[in-house]
Amino acid sequence: MVKLTVEMKEVFAKQKVFAAATASKNAIPNVAPIATVQLIADDTIWIGDNYMVKTLANVRENPHLALYIWDPEKKRCFQIKGTVTIKTSGPEYEKIKAQIKQKGAHYPAKGLLIVTITEVHECTPGSNAGKKLL
Ligand SMILES: Cc1cc2nc3c(=O)[nH]c(=O)nc-3n(C[C@H](O)[C@H](O)[C@H](O)COP(=O)(O)O)c2cc1C
Repeated sequence: MVKLTVEMKEVFAKQKVFAAATASKNAIPNVAPIATVQLIADDTIWIGDNYMVKTLANVRENPHLALYIWDPEKKRCFQIKGTVTIKTSGPEYEKIKAQIKQKGAHYPAKGLLIVTITEVHECTPGSNAGKKLL
């Protein structure tokens, strides 16, 4: 089990919009801006699907997702990679749907991506760049 450190969680909490990277099974990359991203546990991220198209198609056929988090004040950057489970029903889906609908009834809240964190890499510029941390 890969758990984010206190420092990583602090950086995560400062993000407003994440770049969610996925790939098709033919290895065509895609990146999308996503704001509905929550750290639910030290090893689990929830991502709300309102308008995903290629992201959703990619994780259906290749259940991997990566994102980075960056704190410009502390100059710390981490790449987070994980495996994705898609939920469109059940208690977890209902919970994120309620949260999204509270933000705006017009949001479709069509699904939830549950990301189990599998790796964290350094992306702060410098001699440790690219190194696997967790
Ligand atoms: C700032 C910003 C935040 C966004 N947040 C979300 C989000 O939380 N969930 C979502 O499904 N789409 C969100 N979107 C919309 C998707 O990025 C957009 O629908 C995109 O076309 C999906 O791309 P895809 O085809 O690569 O999946 C957001 C867009 C922007 C610009």
